[in-house]
Amino acid sequence: MVTGCSYEVIGDDNRMRKKLIVANWKMNMLRSEAKDYTISLVERLENLPLKVEVVLVPAYTLLDVVYGVIKDTNIQLGAQNVSWQVSGAFTGEISPYMLTDVGCRWAIIGHSERRRILGETDDMVRKKIKSSLDAGLIPIVCVGETLEEREKGKAIEIIREQIETSLRDIKLDDPANLVIAYEPVWAIGTGENPKPNEVEYFYEVIQKIIGTIFGEIASQMRILYGGSVTKEFYITPPDIDGALVGGASLDADSFTKMVQLAGG
Ligand code: PGA
Repeated sequence: MVTGCSYEVIGDDNRMRKKLIVANWKMNMLRSEAKDYTISLVERLENLPLKVEVVLVPAYTLLDVVYGVIKDTNIQLGAQNVSWQVSGAFTGEISPYMLTDVGCRWAIIGHSERRRILGETDDMVRKKIKSSLDAGLIPIVCVGETLEEREKGKAIEIIREQIETSLRDIKLDDPANLVIAYEPVWAIGTGENPKPNEVEYFYEVIQKIIGTIFGEIASQMRILYGGSVTKEFYITPPDIDGALVGGASLDADSFTKMVQLAGG
């Protein structure tokens, strides 16, 4: 059992999961830019044997324009947030069924920017995961410690709490239907990166935590790394299942390079 914070990696378990590279565009781009970017990405990725899954996650207003370009390709669509409600008087919210209706297959849930700036809690995250799964969306659940939590040696405690609370009572039949993204908050948008062995260590910690929740199938679930991923700093240890890329995904060239580095 992993208890300390020595970043010692215990072992490789030969899991064979498809790599997943997710572009989180955050609150960037207008429709014409989104269309141009997506057309150029499709051209770049056209001749690549896609051994990786690629998901574009634009802002809500761009979903349909991006979907129009990718709908007959291997590239998939995701949303940056989702409501836990199905429909009704929830001004400003977007339900998971509205997202599947516009072509989404994925939803990022519990991103640290939403937790920190908009007060999203683990309980809200749990409800969003549940409603997304019910609607057939695959949640990408973000977890990670702040710098202060890290410095106080509380990283594991925080991650455990985030995962255990947000996955409480969540039923999962297929391990492909839920993804965890480990995103240390101090590494997001800062250009700071943990060392690859630290990423592997936290990967293993998260593996163990989800193992206690989902049992056997947890070993087939994918865990991504996110936080200042660039084509220069792409996490390549074989165990890491891919990346959630923010800033560097806004450039189609860099993003293509990351897909290639992941084996695409
Ligand atoms: P970043 O963002 O790559 O710009 O650090 C990652 C994220 O917030 O998902």
